[in-house]
Amino acid sequence: MARQTEMLADLPLPLRTEIALHLNRSIVRSVPLFEEADEPFVRELVLHFEPTVAIPGENIVTRGGIGRRIYFINKGRVEVLAADESTVVATLADGNFFGEMALLTSQPRSNTVRALDYCNLYTLDRERFDRVLESFPDVAAQIHQIAADRAAESRTDE
Ligand code: CMP
Repeated sequence: MARQTEMLADLPLPLRTEIALHLNRSIVRSVPLFEEADEPFVRELVLHFEPTVAIPGENIVTRGGIGRRIYFINKGRVEVLAADESTVVATLADGNFFGEMALLTSQPRSNTVRALDYCNLYTLDRERFDRVLESFPDVAAQIHQIAADRAAESRTDE
């Protein structure tokens, strides 16, 4: 997948957009939050998604760490761990996302998120994420709401 990104980087922008859209549209659409999103939004996201993988047992984000990116799960399950690093607060799978809270609040990572399976993930860095939220306030509102619900849930669990 790294090769795919490299090859695309050499192409003129309009062609790059078309190819990235073709390859990644279904990935974006598989995120329930983006199912109804309009075409300009999907284009923006598709162009800047970076693929990555995680292996079972890997800490993808670590509680207390600095948040630099948001993760979308294309395939696989992850568990969100409480402060004791063993109680499972939530299990997230295909189509869900994590890592939004630190980006929205500029606070350290609230929890450790650990891969349960081999996971295919797509990430956006903070700058891209901020730009997407600025351009698409409806999506931004939904992400803010989900982050607030998660924060409330984690507080009652502690
Ligand atoms: P962040 O704080 O950046 O890093 C840890 C992530 O775990 C957090 O963002 C959320 O995406 C996720 N998370 C925290 N609490 C919950 C919860 N109660 N349910 C689901 N996901 C959560």
